[in-house]
Parts: sequence; C-alpha cells; structure tokens
Amino acid sequence: MRVVVLGAGGMLGRDLVTCLADRHEVLGLTRSEADITDLGGLLRLIEPLRTEVIVNCGAATDVDRCEREPDWAYRVNAWGAWAAAAAAEQCGARLVHVSTDFVFSGDADRPYHEWDTTGPVNVYGASKLAGELAVFRACRRASVVRTQWLYGRHGRSFPRAILNAAAKRPETGLKVVADQVGSPTYTVHLAEKLAWLLEWPADGLYHVSNAGECSRHAWACRLLQAAGMPEISIAPIASSDWPLPARRPARSTLRRYALELAGADDLLSWEAGVDAFVAELRAAGELPG
Ligand SMILES: NC(=O)c1ccc[n+]([C@@H]2O[C@H](COP(=O)([O-])OP(=O)(O)OC[C@H]3O[C@@H](n4cnc5c(N)ncnc54)[C@H](OP(=O)(O)O)[C@@H]3O)[C@@H](O)[C@H]2O)c1
Repeated sequence: MRVVVLGAGGMLGRDLVTCLADRHEVLGLTRSEADITDLGGLLRLIEPLRTEVIVNCGAATDVDRCEREPDWAYRVNAWGAWAAAAAAEQCGARLVHVSTDFVFSGDADRPYHEWDTTGPVNVYGASKLAGELAVFRACRRASVVRTQWLYGRHGRSFPRAILNAAAKRPETGLKVVADQVGSPTYTVHLAEKLAWLLEWPADGLYHVSNAGECSRHAWACRLLQAAGMPEISIAPIASSDWPLPARRPARSTLRRYALELAGADDLLSWEAGVDAFVAELRAAGELPG
C-alpha cells in the first residue's frame, strides 16, 4: 500500500515509519515538509502521490503549552486534524488519526471503552476531541485511534525524564506522582497495532494501549528496575504536590473493547513494554548493558 505519515518527525511518527517500511511504500512527512494546518499545501503534496492511506501523527502535544495557548492547541489538534481528513477525502485515501485518553475526565471507576461519554478536563483534551469529531465529519473512510502515556526511543517522554533525573541526581532520589493511573504504551507496540489496522477493513474508533494499568510512580519504579538502577529511591507524591498549568485526568485507562470484539486485543503488558524499551536503549548504546 502507498502510505503517507504526517507528523513523521515525532516520537510515534518515527517508529511508525520504521515499522511500516518493511510492508508498505511509506513516505513520512515532518512538520516542515507538510504542515497539517495548511490544507492547500497538503493537497499539493499528497494528491500526486496516489496515496491509499494517510496516518496523522501530527499534533500539539505539549499539554501545559496547550493550556496557556489554546489558539495553538485548536489550530493544530482540531483544524489540523480536519485538514488532514479533508485532504484524505479529496485524495480518495483512508485516514488513520491518532488521539488520546485525555478526551476523558478520568473520574470513572473502570477503564473507558470506545463508546463511553467524553469529558476533557484540559485544553489539550478538548482540542483533541474536537479533532476526532472533525475527522469523522470530513472523511468517509476514517479511523481514530486513542492511545495513552506514550513513550519510545525518540523524543521527550516521561521515562526519558525519569532516566535523565536518575542519572543527574542518583543520591537525592526522585519524586513521582502516585495518584495518576493509566497504561504506559510503548510506541513500537502501538505502531505494530496501527500496521494491523491498515490491513483491517472496518473504519471506526479504536483504543490501543499496552495491557494493564499502573500509577506514574509504579511506572517509574519498574523503569529504573529494568534499567539496572533499583537502588535509586522514588518517593510517591500527590498531583497537588506537583502543580502544573493543565489538570490531568486521575484514571483514564483505556479498555480496548473494539479490538476485543475484532479478536485482535493481543497487546503486551505495560511491563513488557518497559522491558522492550530498555532493551532498545541498550541496543542503541544509550543505556549500559
Ligand atoms: N505522548 C503521549 O503521551 C500521547 C498520549 C496519547 C496520545 N498521543 C497522541 O499521539 C500522537 C503522536 O504524539 P507523539 O507522542 O509522537 O508526540 P510528538 O513527539 O510531539 O509528535 C507530534 C509531532 O507533530 C508535529 N506537528 C506539530 N504541529 C504540526 C503541524 N502543524 N503539522 C504537522 N506536524 C505537526 C510535531 O512537530 P514539531 O516537533 O516540529 O513541532 C511532532 O513531530 C498525537 O496525536 C498525540 O496527541 C500522545
């Protein structure tokens, strides 16, 4: 298949292009090559390519900046999602658009399935929700994939911040919030499921995350253990002890119900994701073996 990945310079985009390259004719376009907020530019680039699928990984992902700069958040996450979908529709391509658990409020007492009521608690979540709605309106062959707590080898992420802090301050130890619960999701595992979705005929709404759930504190502990630094202390703290501009959902774990129904919910555990991530960093010489 001929596939274009938008936002290909990002954490997920880079792993997705690598994952799809074995099986498809893939063209990854970074923000400087294809700005999703520029519909005319997207059409000029994509129309001649006879693309069959467009995957949009482009987004405004700095949650606190979104809170401070809502115009930026909506321009990229809502208008940009709409333009990517409109470009796909115009080119006769399918669109796979990536979204987030932050469309939910996080106060449910169970994991959210695809048809649960949304209720974002911050600007990032609200702008991504607006993007989801725009995508389904603008493109007849669209899928939206909500995912959660992404991390991978490329770019900034919570595990990267923990590893950097542990390397800088091994004696003083770290403090990590223990009252936010979710499913850490390794970008390589998500990319593999996106590759599956490209072959799957039913468009729609899908939740994709690694299996199981944990607090950010448990995630950090598991990471340092896997990385061979179990002696570094990590104190559990409350979100209120670490104030940030944007509120975070307390527990926005995703149930992968659509994948369950499709017989395709084979995502590995979040712990297996952490182990694979650490193994990848070791293989790349970024962590001692
Ligand atoms: N990270 C998470 O924990 C998480 C959780 C749930 C869902 N998601 C979703 O997963 C998707 C991928 O995110 P990620 O984690 O890979 O984040 P990321 O590393 O920030 O990647 C996003 C990419 O989008 C690009 N971008 C920004 N504005 C753009 C524009 N106008 N046109 C084209 N590209 C643009 C960015 O380019 P620049 O860097 O050059 O600005 C960046 O390369 C996003 O839809 C995000 O909402 C992420």
